Amino acid sequence: MKIAMVGSGYVGLVSGACFADFGHDVVCIDKDQSKIDRLHEGVMPIYEPGLDALVESNVKAGRLSFTTSLAEGIEGAAAIFIAVGTPSRRGDGHADLSFVYAVAKEVGENLSGEAVIVTKSTVPVGTGDEVERIIRDTGTAHRFAVVSNPEFLREGAAIGDFKRPDRIVIGAEDDFGREVMREVYRPLFLNESPILFTSRRSSELIKYAANAFLATKITFINEMADLCEKVGANVQDVSRGIGMDNRIGPKFLHAGPGYGGSCFPKDTLALLKTAEDYDSPTRIVEAVVKVNDSRKRAMGRKVLDALGGAEASRGKKVALLGLTFKPNTDDMRASPAIAVAQTLIDAGVQVSAYDPEGMEQARPLMPQVTMCDNPYAAIEGADATVIVTEWDAFRALDFARVKELAAAAVLVDLRNIYNPEDVRALGFTYESIGRA
Ligand code: UGA
Repeated sequence: MKIAMVGSGYVGLVSGACFADFGHDVVCIDKDQSKIDRLHEGVMPIYEPGLDALVESNVKAGRLSFTTSLAEGIEGAAAIFIAVGTPSRRGDGHADLSFVYAVAKEVGENLSGEAVIVTKSTVPVGTGDEVERIIRDTGTAHRFAVVSNPEFLREGAAIGDFKRPDRIVIGAEDDFGREVMREVYRPLFLNESPILFTSRRSSELIKYAANAFLATKITFINEMADLCEKVGANVQDVSRGIGMDNRIGPKFLHAGPGYGGSCFPKDTLALLKTAEDYDSPTRIVEAVVKVNDSRKRAMGRKVLDALGGAEASRGKKVALLGLTFKPNTDDMRASPAIAVAQTLIDAGVQVSAYDPEGMEQARPLMPQVTMCDNPYAAIEGADATVIVTEWDAFRALDFARVKELAAAAVLVDLRNIYNPEDVRALGFTYESIGRA
């Protein structure tokens, strides 16, 4: 089966490469000539473990190709995926659908046979209806259906998530759409991945509801962590204790510096806008957004406290370990590290940092931070070391070396990757999240 993937960003490229790996014939399309040129040379536009090898082997096998021409790319495709960006619109937080609609129009104008058009981009409820209208208005003579198929993959674990999904959600309004999508995902049926057919609008909402629910779960445990600190409890025990209840589940209950990334912050805002437009307030999500925003700067203040308070911090030096919003990505979008660094800089602290993959992206976002080649170079002369992102490389720090290099043995662990007793036994002042 031939599949066209319009948009070779994160979702488009991972999905395209995985579909090709299933045996489909996939063309990834992108307007950005330099991105396509680099893909032809085997250079990935994003950092995602395993993606370069997957792309290389499927290109070699002749199942995956790249082009800037949409008309050429969609020729003969039974399924045409729209996987372009839907950033937050400046000013109001609505998802900006201009790229999605522009692709829909171009697809309609260039259809050369019957096809199912699938929105994989995260799009607000009702977008599928508009995509259908736009394509119909191009006057195409070919049969088409518009289907919603949201993506649930996580950065850093995207290939595994795509190949072994918890579920596949397909929102279709007719049998033609459902049949073609069954064929697209047939390799996963054989793996017994659950597939849920819904209406198009339900499918569109499922994506936002899932991300908002996960953001809520994280924010809930973050607030419990604050309470744990006040009452002398341990948030990891609380997470375990509630997570063992099957109705709650153990995942996404790791307390930390607040969620970041390109998805939760953007999708929660877009959901609030939809709720407002339909006069159906989602107050829980409103609270989640507010609590999470204020948490990021609060983490900076936590570091100042560890330095003896805002006054005593002026002129001191702090080392940040990890800058990306989570490990195994180079993505800095809405990373808590940005707010932590800014809070420290505002208080007159000198900040140095190391991140295994994110420093290039981080540099323009935090020009006053000194980027270092390795964790120990960042720690040299620091009055406090802060673990902001839980990269594996920070899980076994050489504490003797840290003590030798640092100006003071102070560790602030915003991801709870160490055991407090162990670190304190080595002579460190150790602060973490929700553990007295
Ligand atoms: C998220 C969802 O998990 C995916 O299912 C979804 O497809 C994706 O958004 C999307 O909409 O495209 P992602 O943003 O890659 O994926 O990252 P997550 O692993 O979900 O982490 C998000 C943030 O929550 C990170 O900042 C992470 O550190 C934080 N987090 C996560 C916690 O603080 N605690 C947890 O227990 C889990």
